[in-house]
Amino acid sequence: MNKMEVFFSSRTENIIFIRAAVVSFLLNLDLEVAILNEIKTVVSEAVTNSIVHGYESDPLNVINVKCSYDKEEIMLEVIDQGIGINDVKQAKRPMFTTKKNEERSGLGFTIMEAFSDELLVESIVGEGTTIKCIKKI
Ligand SMILES: Nc1ncnc2c1ncn2[C@@H]1O[C@H](COP(=O)(O)OP(=O)(O)OP(=O)(O)O)[C@@H](O)[C@H]1O
Ligand SMILES: [Mg+2]
Repeated sequence: MNKMEVFFSSRTENIIFIRAAVVSFLLNLDLEVAILNEIKTVVSEAVTNSIVHGYESDPLNVINVKCSYDKEEIMLEVIDQGIGINDVKQAKRPMFTTKKNEERSGLGFTIMEAFSDELLVESIVGEGTTIKCIKKI
């Protein structure tokens, strides 16, 4: 097993950094470009959600991303201590969004699920949200 963990400010300019950090960590695995692109997309969607929904775009918060892998799978975790989600099942529905007026299409979870073998969402209102994406190698 190999693992890494990063903490960074909840600022949109850090999305490019965290995508690159995760991909760099996984370089040893010699994954196909298509798989790396899927992982980058999951990172972007989950981190964007933490920034815009979890922390309501307040940049004075911290997001924690963990990534690990073994022979069988890659595990990616995106963790915030933001507002949380009161109905995860509803939030995961295609086109469901609580920010309709802000050009959100409500497809983030749908995309993350499509690019994961398993997508786990743990959330407590007022405490935060953890997204776990498992990808088999
Ligand atoms: N980390 C989070 N903290 C709090 N709420 C969240 C979080 N992630 C998702 N949500 C809630 O789940 C809803 C659905 O998320 P999803 O990513 O599918 O769509 P979206 O972010 O609204 O739109 P899009 O991702 O297409 O821009 C969000 O509108 C928001 O209410
Ligand atoms: Mg989203």
